[in-house]
Amino acid sequence: MASQTPHPQLPLPDYFSKFASVYVRQTGHSTLNILSDVIAENVQASAQPIGPDSVVHDTASGPGIGAAALVSRLPKDHLPKELLVSDNVAMMVSAARESLTASPLPRVDCKELDSQDLSSVPDNYFTHSINNFSIFTFVRPVDAVRETYRTLRPGGLAVITCWRRFAPVLIVHAAQKKIRPDLPLMPTPSPQFFEEGVLQKVVEEGGFAKDNITVTEKVLVVTDEENIAGLTMLMSGPMMIKARDGYTGEEEARWVESVKQAIKEEVDQFGGIRFEAYILLATK
Ligand SMILES: C[S@@+](CC[C@H](N)C(=O)[O-])C[C@H]1O[C@@H](n2cnc3c(N)ncnc32)[C@H](O)[C@@H]1O
Repeated sequence: MASQTPHPQLPLPDYFSKFASVYVRQTGHSTLNILSDVIAENVQASAQPIGPDSVVHDTASGPGIGAAALVSRLPKDHLPKELLVSDNVAMMVSAARESLTASPLPRVDCKELDSQDLSSVPDNYFTHSINNFSIFTFVRPVDAVRETYRTLRPGGLAVITCWRRFAPVLIVHAAQKKIRPDLPLMPTPSPQFFEEGVLQKVVEEGGFAKDNITVTEKVLVVTDEENIAGLTMLMSGPMMIKARDGYTGEEEARWVESVKQAIKEEVDQFGGIRFEAYILLATK
């Protein structure tokens, strides 16, 4: 049975279950679009591109984001022969399974697994391991990297990403300050990962040699109306309920308008909703 221990800074024990069915829309496709670019621009240009002999793991996959990114950017004859899609939240795994029913991937398994304990997976199994925008949600991130390292073949490639600037949290903070500046700002899970060098240090602690790690940065400015609408729903709705702790009914009623105003300020400043990410590639 996969561990369900939630990160202490995530608002609800079943946070990601509630999120599963609306995940892609409410992230404004941000995690999918960044990973798709990483695959096309970073992984395929590396010494270990993904191809028909590859065996890939997308760990803490959400509703199958790694699979969607692979299919969106690789020609059919470059898709990996085997893909394991795993997450420790059952609804994420079933959402992934549903999204993959008609996929061109030759062989996909969707499993409920804890990234921090992959004991059902043998050593040296995968050629590539993807961990996209999840590491900061783990209670034991070093253990997850250790498992990534153990399950990768020698010479295999890990792709680990995290946020440098996660715009929704900053927008929510701006919205909070408009209504109740006296109350604490909504906490972020493991905010240390926003700082330069922290992801690399965790990956080194998990077993990868310093010389085999490269870190680059990517910026995504979300301008598409539909994606901004999805992100607006995320920030206005129950997923960000912690931001309204201690609010009266009248203050709650002003929340959606306050979020919209804060989004307008973000768009005026950056030309859209601005995400910045660290992209780490590490070879075993
Ligand atoms: C922010 S989402 C990222 C999902 C996806 N990788 C993406 O690119 O959008 C974090 C995911 O990590 C999963 N997760 C959190 N802790 C986990 C753990 N210990 N083992 C496996 N998955 C975990 C959550 O269920 C959620 O699906």
